[in-house]
Amino acid sequence: MEVIVRPNAEEATRLAARVIAREIQTKPKLVLGLATGRTMERLYGMLVDMHRREGLDFSLITTFNLDEYIGLPPEHPQSYRHYMNHHLFRHVNIDMRNTNLPDGVAPDIDAECARYETAIRECGGIGLQVLGIGRDGHIGFNEPLSAMLSRTRAKALTPTTIRQNAPLFDKPDEMPKRAITMGVGTILDSKRCLMLVTGTEKAAVIAKAVEGPVTSMISASALQLHPNCRVIVDEDAAANLENRDYYDWIFLHEPEWQEFH
Ligand code: GLP
Repeated sequence: MEVIVRPNAEEATRLAARVIAREIQTKPKLVLGLATGRTMERLYGMLVDMHRREGLDFSLITTFNLDEYIGLPPEHPQSYRHYMNHHLFRHVNIDMRNTNLPDGVAPDIDAECARYETAIRECGGIGLQVLGIGRDGHIGFNEPLSAMLSRTRAKALTPTTIRQNAPLFDKPDEMPKRAITMGVGTILDSKRCLMLVTGTEKAAVIAKAVEGPVTSMISASALQLHPNCRVIVDEDAAANLENRDYYDWIFLHEPEWQEFH
């Protein structure tokens, strides 16, 4: 795992956008795993800008989102399908047929989860998985005690997550209490992972995820087992990290980061 600290949320997000853009440029048929949440809104805004200004080409990529609420149809304004269309897909030259999210209103949820796993496998697996982190340490909607080897499945949301996301709903009480999420094992199968974390409210949980023990109580800590995982944080989110000097040294001196200075 590599941790990179940038001075503020804007610069952290810009670095993440540049890493993703580089991956798309070098692998035009990239299978890209995508996340939702407030942190990702600016990231997608930057990718849209890169498409408009620099011609970043999404035409051959395939995407798989981490999760979707159970019970929300795609046209619901708080569904993650709607979020993705609104923040990214409809502003770039992606082929909508190559954008994938779990179907939260599928009649058979277990069958839908199995279908999603198969679809990822048939595309050759995820090349780069973009991730945020929830306040309870979840990645996707892998709430505490999610098995490290879990696959795509239905998961009950924790009170912490419901408190975190309910304000995004016009009627907070209508937030679904369950979601379909890729499993921790599904995420760990991605060739590369890129996590973006900003803001003081994430400082405690990201320190546990990165520097604490690997534990299913903090699903994001499973990323310590991943052979190619980069974590980009801003100063606020980095406040509780202990090994800061080493992380700064890596960004300054490791050859792979030189092009991003
Ligand atoms: C949701 C998503 C997660 C995301 C999290 C962070 O819970 N399921 O994938 O990481 O939100 O959200 P935010 O960026 O709003 O803090």
